Amino acid sequence: MRRIGILTGGGDAPGLNAVIRAVTKYGVGQRGWELIGIEDSFNGLLERPYRLQTLSMPSCRGLLARGGTVLGTTNKGDPFAWRGTSKSGATGKPGNRSVEVREAMEELGMEGLIVLGGDGTQGIAWRLMQEQGIKVVGVPKTIDNDLGATDLCFGFQSAVDCVADALDRLHTTAESHDRVLLLEVMGRDAGWIALHGGISGGADVVVIPEIPWTGEGICRKIIERQQVGRPFSLIVVAEGARPADEGIIPGQAAQRVADAIKARLPDTDLRVTVLGHLQRGGGPVAVDRLLATRMGVGAVDLVEAGRWGELVCLRNNAIIGVPLQEAVSVYRTVDPAGDTVRVARAVGVSFGDR
Ligand code: F6P
Repeated sequence: MRRIGILTGGGDAPGLNAVIRAVTKYGVGQRGWELIGIEDSFNGLLERPYRLQTLSMPSCRGLLARGGTVLGTTNKGDPFAWRGTSKSGATGKPGNRSVEVREAMEELGMEGLIVLGGDGTQGIAWRLMQEQGIKVVGVPKTIDNDLGATDLCFGFQSAVDCVADALDRLHTTAESHDRVLLLEVMGRDAGWIALHGGISGGADVVVIPEIPWTGEGICRKIIERQQVGRPFSLIVVAEGARPADEGIIPGQAAQRVADAIKARLPDTDLRVTVLGHLQRGGGPVAVDRLLATRMGVGAVDLVEAGRWGELVCLRNNAIIGVPLQEAVSVYRTVDPAGDTVRVARAVGVSFGDR
């Protein structure tokens, strides 16, 4: 019987459990694997006793719609640069412990690993394969949708839905009070969540890292709306957004936009909402459940085909395998001259740049 390990690394995303369920149903239920869940990324193999879960058909009940990850995760569990403590309270030798990952897998009779994670975790998986000969298949995960290898990551649509829902709520209160309401959303250095969420939720201004903003540009839209009897505005600000006249200053992206508006339009009644981890919490929307299921099945297919070292990706609506090395090196950001930005501008969305 093949014994395969599965783990989730980095930040969580809606749909991780749906992938675990699909791998269990297909791998265990139909391919006869023994599937071992490793808790808290690679940490479950570095701690003693090992922290493992045997995944079975009964254990995957209810996982399709469940948020988070039943295996637990951490973004502080890099075995190449282990920090000396883990979130479970375990302590150990800090530094490079990658050899111990291989030794643990040998002791457990684990043939290979299915690794669910973003660019950081997939980079670790690739290095483990190169340096320790550990067989890995990757499944990409990020709500930011910034992995260039795949057209879409599960979790992204759920985050976008959360932003659209937040904007619907902000809309009614902004309109009632004639206020300018700013919503800061996640996305790291990419503006995908802001762009898709902003269009879906009817934002008036969308501020993204790829298009530097100016105070004049943003205020122009607010004034333009006031002049046509719309004395309120909704502004979505990506956390990585930056003003045209300054370098990158991390943090407080929406507050900086609010300050710039206040400096030019002091009578504006402004409020800032930071949506934060609400975007990552909760269950996946249907589109993400479907994609997660397709990717889970795709991961089992890659293992069955012996295509270790590949990442499951969606391209042109087909699930394919892409070499991990290539997959982790392409970071995708919004094209300011691309179609979605053009569509947004066509329906009157300002990016605060003109
Ligand atoms: O990469 C996913 C993401 O949610 C980003 O959008 C955000 O910047 C970051 O993770 C937040 O990470 P943490 O969980 O460490 O707060």
